[in-house]
Amino acid sequence: MTDPRDALRAWFLGPRAENADLLERLVTEALRDHVFWRRNFHPEDGFTISERDRRAPGFDEAVATLTQELLGLLAELKRDVPFFSGRYKGHMVFEQTIASQVGYFAAMLYNPNNVALEAAPVTTRLELEVAHQLAGMIGYDPEGGWGHLTGGGTIANFEALWIARNVAYLPLAVRWAAADFGVEVPVRLPGGDVAPLAALDLHTLLNLHPSDALDAWQRLRAAGPPDVVARTLAGHTLGAAGYQEYSRRIAAAFPDPLPDSVVLVAATAHYSWEKVVRALGIGGDQLRHVPVDAHCRMDPDALWESLVALARSRTPVMALVSVCGSTEESAVDRLDQVLEVRARAAVELGLAFHVHSDACYGGYAASVTRDAAGARREGAAIRRDLGVPWPTDEWVAAITALGGADSVTIDPHKLGYVPYPAGAFLCRDRRARELVAVTPPYLAPAGNDPTGDEFLGRFILEGSKPGAAAAAVWLSHKVLPLDERGYGYLIGQTAIGARRLHAALAAADLGSFRAILLPEPDINIVCWLLTHPRCTTLGQVNELNEGIYRMMSLHRADAAPEYIITRTRFESPQYDGAVPPLLEQLAVGSLDEWRGPEGGLVVLRATVMDPFMAAPPPVPDHVAGFVGALRRAAVEAMQGEK
Ligand SMILES: Cc1ncc(COP(=O)(O)O)c(C=O)c1O
Repeated sequence: MTDPRDALRAWFLGPRAENADLLERLVTEALRDHVFWRRNFHPEDGFTISERDRRAPGFDEAVATLTQELLGLLAELKRDVPFFSGRYKGHMVFEQTIASQVGYFAAMLYNPNNVALEAAPVTTRLELEVAHQLAGMIGYDPEGGWGHLTGGGTIANFEALWIARNVAYLPLAVRWAAADFGVEVPVRLPGGDVAPLAALDLHTLLNLHPSDALDAWQRLRAAGPPDVVARTLAGHTLGAAGYQEYSRRIAAAFPDPLPDSVVLVAATAHYSWEKVVRALGIGGDQLRHVPVDAHCRMDPDALWESLVALARSRTPVMALVSVCGSTEESAVDRLDQVLEVRARAAVELGLAFHVHSDACYGGYAASVTRDAAGARREGAAIRRDLGVPWPTDEWVAAITALGGADSVTIDPHKLGYVPYPAGAFLCRDRRARELVAVTPPYLAPAGNDPTGDEFLGRFILEGSKPGAAAAAVWLSHKVLPLDERGYGYLIGQTAIGARRLHAALAAADLGSFRAILLPEPDINIVCWLLTHPRCTTLGQVNELNEGIYRMMSLHRADAAPEYIITRTRFESPQYDGAVPPLLEQLAVGSLDEWRGPEGGLVVLRATVMDPFMAAPPPVPDHVAGFVGALRRAAVEAMQGEK
């Protein structure tokens, strides 16, 4: 077995492009191989561009333009962001694995379009394979589930709620279609009883477990020929009718109106959820935040209280979004506890809803919990191998619970270290995808099952999409398996590096400045803020940290920053659970001031995706370097305020 401690240095080009010869060799290999392919494809065709053509003055002119313009582009690109450097601790991106770069480049020469098999016979298969691998890593049965790559986390999250919403309203459509056929369709209720759909009131119909709703639909299929049942059902779906017409139909059929269904999200949820509820017509007002605790994880008690209040007002919950690796803090919700709350709500409150885990950032960390045979690793064994008190058993339990979520989104272009664009959507019950399926006749595969897995375009929001992205993820997974030998090792190193940085900030001599830290991160994003005796109001503390951010970000116009970080603003009520301990340490400002119109707390963030930070010197010690740069930036920011 390749020792990942050695392999790590072969996985990336390197901050000084140390592996340039390797990348060059592999890119050249890919290009030459592509050239052979072209030369051998119908060689009887002869040459379209002759050697004589290539010597014409106009040809030279065109090549000169191309070369010159490329040089211009290359010069422009020097102003881009140095993601590859240990000095970059900004957003959730580091450099990409060589495997993914070469995989992307190689496939890009063929330009496959994974919308349909006939435009991407090879990379469609690779896409389904990587979806299988991701599904297996999080604990889904890959055969029962379904997944594919997307342009990113936002699109993947959209698909999750699109499917969740259509499953939530499915019982209505099945009930109406059953009435058309004159058949009775029984369904399992949240408490375990079974009742005919026709006997249920609206609140109960909108509170069926997703699998039970899908089972009811399956039972309806016995009512007639498949295409007739499918057409009849489709006519009764929200997707076909749209919200306005559907509301009219519901009002006519059920005398007892209900409040609008809501979508519960962890208070740390990415802003894409706001986009998604707006785009789906659910409405931004229907997005409800569940408070987080001091670790920025969804508070299961607060979730329970929200559910009790929603049950009392008879408000249906369309979906609950838990986060695995929050954007700002890399916090991992205790999904195991969240799922327990859902189970309790089914029995005690008669509530049922889809649970989604937004693991766009943290999903790949599940590889830490897998051994080479794919079995789940104990927390103690992982901690022993990494040599740090991470991850906790609770963390492993939360990650293990991903397999119990109805859908999960995971972005290869974040902790998968592959080029944009690559997100992934996974759902536990493949039947659900039919609820968003649209069949374009011009793309239906000849001879193949038009409803088969390979026909990606039928089930996804996007149309044309890069097969090169699938090749990139596929090759990267081949070189770095989704377990302790590959991604698990890589991400483990980043967690160690983040702990080193956290400890260094806590112990740092920052002169008259003082660091106030959030708890150690669940994965690898370190959050803190600085204060100074001259900062006597919350506003001044915020100004100081905004100033530090300006000094340590690419906004700096006068000089290149020594290190690059980002910042966020913790606001009430989303961060009600996390901010009080910080204010207490700050000993400046009050909760009222923080909650007020000028309030909020500016928090600095360092995303440690650089695996080389885990190793002690002699490699550049970016931990010590970072602390020194922070101190200098703080002094400058303070002077700037005078
Ligand atoms: C938790 C989480 N979900 C979703 C997204 C959206 O991902 P994308 O930018 O790929 O659309 C992000 C992006 O940072 C994220 O952190």
